Amino acid sequence: MKKHPKNAQRASETFDSIAEHFDKTRNRPWKEVVEFIKNSDGRLLDIGCGNGRHILEGIKNGLKVVGIDASRELLKISKKKFGKEIKKDVDLIRSGIKDLPFKKNSFDNVIYIATIHHLKDGRVGSLKEAKRVLRPEGRILISSWARELDRWDLEKEESEVLVPWHREDGEIIDRFYHLYTLDELEKDVVKSGLSVSRTFHSGGNNYIEANNTHN
Ligand SMILES: C[S@@+](CC[C@H](N)C(=O)[O-])C[C@H]1O[C@@H](n2cnc3c(N)ncnc32)[C@H](O)[C@@H]1O
Repeated sequence: MKKHPKNAQRASETFDSIAEHFDKTRNRPWKEVVEFIKNSDGRLLDIGCGNGRHILEGIKNGLKVVGIDASRELLKISKKKFGKEIKKDVDLIRSGIKDLPFKKNSFDNVIYIATIHHLKDGRVGSLKEAKRVLRPEGRILISSWARELDRWDLEKEESEVLVPWHREDGEIIDRFYHLYTLDELEKDVVKSGLSVSRTFHSGGNNYIEANNTHN
């Protein structure tokens, strides 16, 4: 595991402090991501890989996977899951996600799942970074928690919330979210220069599938 730029400081503190409990509640991969991975080949980047639940799917499908995340504790948990695959098929990197530590065109596919909504700013920039490291014609799947859900009690213009995580020891940790509607997320993806191929809601999340058709 390597470097750790400043922009990820807060995310790393938040997710480090809930890592163990978070892992217990995030055991299974999401079916939408499994489907995307099944249609992927070559090298896959998992931006904000968390406990590695989607990396495992990549390995099962014969991909070489790189996971990047700010949380040292989640990366440790992830590392334990892979055993001997760790050197052969998986690389885990501790880093912020606004500046990705890879050359352009490094990956055939990218997944950016349930992570962009934790960035208070720089979200379009982070999508541009994802595009930069994706090869021409490469595919990306992006998801974020849906603002359209009834659970949010927001004024029209509001999009930022702190969502409490109730740890097993009773401590409450607030997680920052920028809540996107599907339309807003699509607009940001278009701004990044990626070409949207599919948009959909599923399981309380908004999803965008896109291609890197422009260089
Ligand atoms: C809700 S989790 C999703 C994890 C994984 N994608 C999944 O679907 O299980 C969000 C992840 O993004 C990471 N994260 C949030 N902001 C980050 C930042 N600025 N830089 C790097 N990682 C960040 C967190 O540490 C956490 O692992």
